[in-house]
Amino acid sequence: MRPDGRAAILQGRGGTTSSAAAPAAAAFRLNNRKYLGAKHRLLDFLHEAVLSRVPSPEVFIDGFAGTGVVGEHFRRYADRIVSNDLLYSNYVVNQAFLNSTPRNTDLGRVEELLSALNRLPPSPGYVLENFGGRYFTPENAARIDAVRGGIEELYRGGRCTEQERFLLLASLLYAADKAANTVGQYDAYLKHLGPPEPAAADARGAGRHLVDSNVHKPLQLRLPAVELGEGGHEVYNEDLNALIGRLRGDVLYLDPPYNRRQYVDCYHVLENIARWERPPLYGKTRKFRRAALKSRYSRQAEASRALAELIEAARSEHIFLSYNTEGIIPDEDIAAILERKGRWQVCEREYAVFGNGAGSSRRRMLRERVFYCRARREC
Ligand SMILES: C[S@@+](CC[C@H](N)C(=O)[O-])C[C@H]1O[C@@H](n2cnc3c(N)ncnc32)[C@H](O)[C@@H]1O
Repeated sequence: MRPDGRAAILQGRGGTTSSAAAPAAAAFRLNNRKYLGAKHRLLDFLHEAVLSRVPSPEVFIDGFAGTGVVGEHFRRYADRIVSNDLLYSNYVVNQAFLNSTPRNTDLGRVEELLSALNRLPPSPGYVLENFGGRYFTPENAARIDAVRGGIEELYRGGRCTEQERFLLLASLLYAADKAANTVGQYDAYLKHLGPPEPAAADARGAGRHLVDSNVHKPLQLRLPAVELGEGGHEVYNEDLNALIGRLRGDVLYLDPPYNRRQYVDCYHVLENIARWERPPLYGKTRKFRRAALKSRYSRQAEASRALAELIEAARSEHIFLSYNTEGIIPDEDIAAILERKGRWQVCEREYAVFGNGAGSSRRRMLRERVFYCRARREC
């Protein structure tokens, strides 16, 4: 065995040391992460809004898929899902959950590989150098280095399929997110990443966040709770405005960013780990150069135009747009854009949100809205 322990993964039939490996912990689900604007808690609202109008969609396009919870939900009702997101880290997870089939995925092997990866000793590298002592404890940062490198070795060595690689990567992203010293986004990290404080477990103290107890636990990869299905879903990693002309589907669901916070800024650490290009990083928050991943929907001066171009180019008969009352696109613009496309109406639901995404835990009420537009034939 090599001193860094990686040979343990690559040896033997099936490429694992399953006899010695600790079992991977309980499976995780798509909603087991904090993600800005994720629609998990609004699925019943979306379900009703969409299926009361289109009871059995043929192709459901989830154009701004994020965590993928919406596509995963409608997969049970539509013949096919088309999923897309600008971030590769979301693409990986959406591939894992939508396209695992009995032909491309052996869940027993994935579990064994995860167990073997869990047993790798920390291996100091890029993650430790850049994110250790900031977003992760040094030990967990070096574990992420070991696991990320280990996954590529497994894949290059033919020890897992491409689809299984998506599952292993998804597992790493969820594990890293759980162990991160943040409030869920990576545009800042919490200070005082010192030794565990007994009183700090899950703490949200008077006005200041304390370090979550998970931050000090060893990184733990878990099996993704995927359903092996028929596959054949289309998963993309593109700017939806560039992709839309190539997409065909009767239902188009749009959930664009609604404020100025760029998703790539909020999730740059996970995106960096997923891409594994190891670019130079800058500033206190250790971000990579990411101009190409910035969204027009998060720019006040461009968001309305981007939405107008998207809706104009869309070829779907039924368009559903989630956009809450705190969005940067004025209601008059949304109304004018939809008016040009067809007949439209709004469904609304009040719901409570916690915090503003920037560390506050204040509870406030938001009105979540789904705009439904039935496109005219010539559109
Ligand atoms: C509000 S979130 C979607 C949340 C998702 N519905 C869920 O339930 O998890 C918006 C998503 O749009 C993605 N995004 C932003 N601009 C995009 C673009 N131009 N094309 C495709 N995806 C984009 C972001 O990366 C982010 O994941």
